[in-house]
Amino acid sequence: MRDGSESTEFAPALLRWYDAAARVLPWRTGPADRAAGVVPDPYRVWLSEIMLQQTTVASVKGYFHRFTERWPTVDALAAAEDAEVMAEWAGLGYYARARNLIACARVVAQRGSFPDTLDGLRALPGVGAYTAAAVASIAFDRAETVVDGNVERVTARVFAVTEPMPKVKPKLAKLAEVLTPQTRPGDFAQAMMDLGATICTPRNPRCVECPVAGFCKGLEQGIASELPKKLAKAPKPTRRGFAYVALRPDGAPLLETRPPKGLLGGMPGWPGSDWSEVPQPAPPLAADWIELPGLVKHTFTHFHLELTVLMAHVPDGANPEVGDFRPGFDPDALPTLMRKVHDHAVAASSDLFGPRPGA
Ligand code: ADE
Repeated sequence: MRDGSESTEFAPALLRWYDAAARVLPWRTGPADRAAGVVPDPYRVWLSEIMLQQTTVASVKGYFHRFTERWPTVDALAAAEDAEVMAEWAGLGYYARARNLIACARVVAQRGSFPDTLDGLRALPGVGAYTAAAVASIAFDRAETVVDGNVERVTARVFAVTEPMPKVKPKLAKLAEVLTPQTRPGDFAQAMMDLGATICTPRNPRCVECPVAGFCKGLEQGIASELPKKLAKAPKPTRRGFAYVALRPDGAPLLETRPPKGLLGGMPGWPGSDWSEVPQPAPPLAADWIELPGLVKHTFTHFHLELTVLMAHVPDGANPEVGDFRPGFDPDALPTLMRKVHDHAVAASSDLFGPRPGA
């Protein structure tokens, strides 16, 4: 273990590793390009950071490609219809991010460019402390400290911090700041993320391959893999509900647009009951509802959900209390839970759905 100058030597050691081992990612300006003077595109940095919140690199890649193909600039995204953007986001989850994404793109397009300071970025819709620091550092090479789950884990191990999460988060943020260099802070932030994703992993960290093992008090004390400590979480409760799939003779499904606030806000969905321990049936119109066998199961951040699906064929002119019939609706525009309900209904009665676009 080195002493004294350890925090000033940490960044150079990590950056040397990053120069050789940086992951190639579609939104990333790699260390060689950056050294050659290539400047990152703040739009791509911002878009990727919003997508990557609560979501893995592997799931984001395809979405990032589709978004940047369709909307290559923030001006193009700002000019898109809300519903087009929400449909392209379908399946990524946490839909408030998509609504804020649209709002933010419009603010940036209006002002002409992304702000290049932490405070300027922080004032944009949907840009919190994490995203502001990530964009300021990665896009504009400002010496801001980026703290995500990877960085918290690396920092807890380097400093052998044994207090449990989440209470210890502010302390870890301060310690991460100590490690952040004035030179190449953007590459440093990405290097910390790569280290956390590939070497300093939650389980079975590969300390023998670690470029900063010599700085790691957790390794020295033999407790690195146990950090950060977490308090046992309360188990998630299970809620239940009913979902109603009504089809008109032309195959048009009855869908509603969910309220803008709340779970799956602003997204299309099947009309349904409340989600609770004892949900009350709530058919959107009178019909011969048939309960399908089995349940649709889905897990949200704070609870498991089990839906019973009911189906009905309804005549032309049927007048629902909730939602509207949508001819030619594309199931790819549904959020994952609603897509599961669709697939469950199709599996139970494949002949009942009309032809779909592209089928
Ligand atoms: N996770 C969040 N932001 C990231 C980034 N810029 N690179 C790699 N992983 C990330």
